[in-house]
Amino acid sequence: MQFKTIIDPFRIKSVEPVQFTTREERAAALERVHYNLFGLQSQEVLIDMLTDSGTGAMSKQQWAGMMLGDESYAGSTSYQKFEDTVKSITGFKHVIPTHQGRAAERILFSNIAGKGDVVPSNNHFDTTRANIEFMGAEARDLVIDEGRQPQLIHPFKGNMDPAKLRQTIREVGAENIPIVMLTITNNSGGGQPVSMANIREISGICREAGIPFFLDACRFAENAWFIKTREEGYAHKTPGEIAYEMFSYADGCTMSAKKDGLANIGGFIALNDDHLAVECRNLLILTEGFPTYGGMAGYDMEAVAQGLCEALDPHYLQYRERTVAYLAEKVTAAGIPIVQPPGGHALFIDAKALLPHIPAQQYPAQALTIALYLEGGIRSVEIGSVMFGKVHDDGSETPAAMELVRLAFPRRVYTQSHIDYVAEALEHISEVRDRLRGVKITWQPPFLRHFTAQFAPL
Ligand code: F0G
Repeated sequence: MQFKTIIDPFRIKSVEPVQFTTREERAAALERVHYNLFGLQSQEVLIDMLTDSGTGAMSKQQWAGMMLGDESYAGSTSYQKFEDTVKSITGFKHVIPTHQGRAAERILFSNIAGKGDVVPSNNHFDTTRANIEFMGAEARDLVIDEGRQPQLIHPFKGNMDPAKLRQTIREVGAENIPIVMLTITNNSGGGQPVSMANIREISGICREAGIPFFLDACRFAENAWFIKTREEGYAHKTPGEIAYEMFSYADGCTMSAKKDGLANIGGFIALNDDHLAVECRNLLILTEGFPTYGGMAGYDMEAVAQGLCEALDPHYLQYRERTVAYLAEKVTAAGIPIVQPPGGHALFIDAKALLPHIPAQQYPAQALTIALYLEGGIRSVEIGSVMFGKVHDDGSETPAAMELVRLAFPRRVYTQSHIDYVAEALEHISEVRDRLRGVKITWQPPFLRHFTAQFAPL
C-alpha cells in the first residue's frame, strides 16, 4: 500500500523554542525599525520566512562531520572532501571555496566584467546584479515573457528567452558579453525552474558565439527535482544524474551553499577554465583566504560536502516541494493571488493583484510584509519595487515588473502546524486587505536599498 501523505523525511532530535510577542509589541518594533523587517531582532519574530539562506537545520551527519573538520591552513582533508564532492556533483575541473554566494560573484565578476559589458541572465539575483553593476557592467534580465506574468501557469517559468539572448548578442557583440548566466531556480522570478531543454539551448547559443556560460546554482537540487517531475524523459533519472547533466552544459557556476548546500554558511566557484581559475584564486587569497579554505572553516566544508549530497535525496526533495505546494493550496483557496505554480524554495504572493488600490510608487509588497508581521509575527521579504525599482538621477523611479512578497521556507525547520498558522494569518490579511495602506521611503542608501531603507506608512 502506497499511502498518499508525504511525511517529513526526518525526526527531530534538538528543538529551538519560538518566541511569542503581542500585537502591541510588534507595532512598537515596526516603528523602531522604520518599517523595514531586516531591522528586527530574531526574538521579535515568531515564524521567520525572510529567507531560506543559511537558515536550514543540519542533519546529525552534518554535525558529526563538523567534529571531523580539519583546520589545517593548507591542504586540509576537509577541503579534499569538499572538492571531491563538488567535482562529483558538477563535473567542473576547479573548485574555489568562498564564504558565501556573493563572494563567489564578486571574485568572478571582478575578473571578467567591466564598463560597457552586458551580462545576460534569466533574472539576476540582487547581489549578482549589484556585483555586476559595481564593475560598471549591465546586468540584463532575459526571462521568457511567461515568467513575468505571475498567475500564468507554465512548468518552466525560469527559462531564458533564446530569441532575446540572440538579439542581445547581435546588439552588443559577443566580445562585450563576458559570460551568460542562468539562475537555477530563478529566485527573483518566483523560484521558478529552468528546463533541461532551455539550459541545453542557451548553452548551444553561447558556444556558437564563443561566450562562456555559467549557472547561478544556489538551488540546483530543487531545479533538478522540477526537471525530474515536469520534463519528459527525466522521471526515471535521479536528481544527482539530472544535476550532473545540467552542469555538463555550463563552463562554470557560482554557488551559495546556504541554500542547496544545506549549510549555515559557505559557497564556491566551480569552473573549467584554467586561466580564469588562477585569476580567481589570486583574488581569493587577497580577500577570502587560501585556496583550500577560501572563506570557510574546515568544519564548514565538512557540513557543505555532506549537505550537498543530502539535498539531492529524492525523499527530501519531494517533501520540500510538497511543503511549499501545501501552503500554496491553502492560500489559493482563500483567494490570495500567488505566483503560479509555486516555486521551489518559497511562496511568492502577488501583492499588485492582492492590493490593487496601492500603486507601485507606494510599494504594495512592502506594505504587505509589514501587515503580515504586525498581524502574525511572520517575517517575509519584499521582492518588488523596493528591491528592484530603478532610481534615476532626478529621484524618479521606474517600478519593478512585479510586486511580490516572498515567504521563504528554511530547510527542514518548520512543521505543518507552523505552515497552517501562516495560512491562517494570510487569510486574515486577505479579509482586511482594503484597509491596508502603502508606504513611502524616508531614507535610502545608494546600493541594495531594501536591506536598510527606512519607510513611513501613508
Ligand atoms: N544567487 C541567488 C539566486 C540567491 O538567491 C542568492 C542569495 C545569492 C546568489 C547570493 O548568495 O547570500 O550566499 O551571498 N539569496 C538569499 C535569499 C540571500 O534570501 O534569496 P549569498
